[in-house]
Amino acid sequence: MKIILLGAPGAGKGTVAKLLTEFDGSVQISTGDILRGAVKAGTRLGGQAKKYMDAGDLVPDELIMELMRERLAQNDCRRGFILDGFPRTIPQATALKGLLRDLQISLDFVVSLEVPREVILDRLTTRRTCSNPECQEIYNIKSNPPQPDGKCKKCGSPTIQRDDETEAAIQYRLETYEKKTSPLIAYYRQEGLLREFSSVSSVETVAAIKKQLGK
Ligand code: AP5
Repeated sequence: MKIILLGAPGAGKGTVAKLLTEFDGSVQISTGDILRGAVKAGTRLGGQAKKYMDAGDLVPDELIMELMRERLAQNDCRRGFILDGFPRTIPQATALKGLLRDLQISLDFVVSLEVPREVILDRLTTRRTCSNPECQEIYNIKSNPPQPDGKCKKCGSPTIQRDDETEAAIQYRLETYEKKTSPLIAYYRQEGLLREFSSVSSVETVAAIKKQLGK
């Protein structure tokens, strides 16, 4: 599959993407995970991105496009990919369109995950994420808790709250989403690629996406 997942912070993009990769071997490409990995590894990209991420602001488009140009040209993307958290601005979406044209790749469709705001706020304050950059499994202390000692069920590393999970940063991320990312819904509707899913249950959402893909 070759799809984009659009949705507010906490809408469940990462959770849905991980379930979809288990299904047909398509790779999850999460710009958020890549950036957090770069911050942890102390690379040039990580150094440039950290201050934006901690504040809940978007990383500049040029940095993201540099990263994605490289990532989408890698061989594993030929099997299929799920773009999680990219594109996030109109300039990123138009640059992606050109990039996919150059690589002769066409998208199946763009998934918009619709979740009420009060559900989102609750999910973000109760999320826990595996601290191992190779794993980054997503948990929720209410709906999907890690082991009782707080360790990851998959790899045994400690689970943590992310640096952008403070109340102020969450608020800012939601405002940034409304201002800069939500216009992508109209953009992809106009392109004829948008499919909207009410995403209260991730398992049901994944089943609905598979059905749209004809699988
Ligand atoms: P990123 O990592 O992409 O964060 P985000 O978009 O804010 O999304 P989240 O990861 O917070 O949420 P999610 O929708 O994946 O939800 P999840 O599945 O975890 O980006 C972080 C930062 O990086 C940005 O702020 C920006 O600075 C930078 N960045 C990244 N990409 C960029 C780009 N393209 N351009 C510029 N800057 C960029 O679920 C949330 C919680 O809910 C979890 O606890 C989960 O277990 C739970 N949950 C999920 N589904 C359900 C369900 N159905 N029922 C119950 N609980 C559920």
